[in-house]
Amino acid sequence: MMKNAQDKVIMSDGRGIPCIGYGTWQTPDGETAKNCVKYALEAGYRHIDTAACYGNEVGVGEGIRASGVARGDIFLTTKHWVTERGYEKTIAAAEASMKALGVDYLDLYLIHWPCVARVSENWREINADTWRGFEKLYRDGKILSLGVSNFEPHHLAALDRFAEVKPVVNQIEFHPGYNQLTNVKYCQEIGMTVEAWSPLGCGKVLGDERIGAIAAKYGVSTAKLCIRYALQHGVVPLPKSVTPERISDNLDVFDFTISPEDMRELDALPSVGESGFHPDDAPAESYYD
Ligand code: A2P
Repeated sequence: MMKNAQDKVIMSDGRGIPCIGYGTWQTPDGETAKNCVKYALEAGYRHIDTAACYGNEVGVGEGIRASGVARGDIFLTTKHWVTERGYEKTIAAAEASMKALGVDYLDLYLIHWPCVARVSENWREINADTWRGFEKLYRDGKILSLGVSNFEPHHLAALDRFAEVKPVVNQIEFHPGYNQLTNVKYCQEIGMTVEAWSPLGCGKVLGDERIGAIAAKYGVSTAKLCIRYALQHGVVPLPKSVTPERISDNLDVFDFTISPEDMRELDALPSVGESGFHPDDAPAESYYD
């Protein structure tokens, strides 16, 4: 088991990824993003997760530079947005993200959402075309690891038929009350690393009494229990906070272990805090397309 947030999980391409990342979804750009990222790096995070569609890449990049932590010591992820599908647009989108972040390479680049049947009957080819752009960026040394987000096993299987460079990460919604364990297991069995977005259910699971009762047994906050829950599933959590005490506190999860019985209880919870964002079910004019 990991001993601190900088300990690395080894991905199937042989590279290491720090086992807890700092999430920035809904973190406003500008001073907030800058100060929070700087603070997170000072507190000990070495893994920062953003996305083009979060609109905060400029502030995130400023925070990295302001922290004084060397670029090479930081694992930086951003994501390709759904409006940029296709080979040429993908390459341009990655370049634009790197420019906004002020970096000349990315540690990890993710397809944010798969193209799905509801959007186009050619969804497989569209994802493959986007992936060719990813592979070009990888071969040019601009992106060190390639991955996807919000892919379900059938999206992964379709991509696998085309991919010459395999995705090493799938970042999905994962927390007690919505753990997508079938998808997690599938990914882990084929050697992919799973990352958890909204490991705290976007804050919505924190008031849940059942989760709170388990957290109380260990004398920890519900947030810490949720972060630990991801780690014990071999999943890399990406907790988001703009509050300094919480940013630090969310790293302090290495001095307790959730028992197998409590893990099973957390696994079996009915739906709590689920975002409702599902790749195949979204209406065509949805949040992601
Ligand atoms: P804030 O950013 O205002 O500190 P998730 O990572 O699942 O998306 O959850 C993020 C939400 O959880 C944010 O609203 C964040 O609030 C809140 N949050 C993050 N860490 C903690 C914590 N340790 N205790 C309570 N709330 C937290």
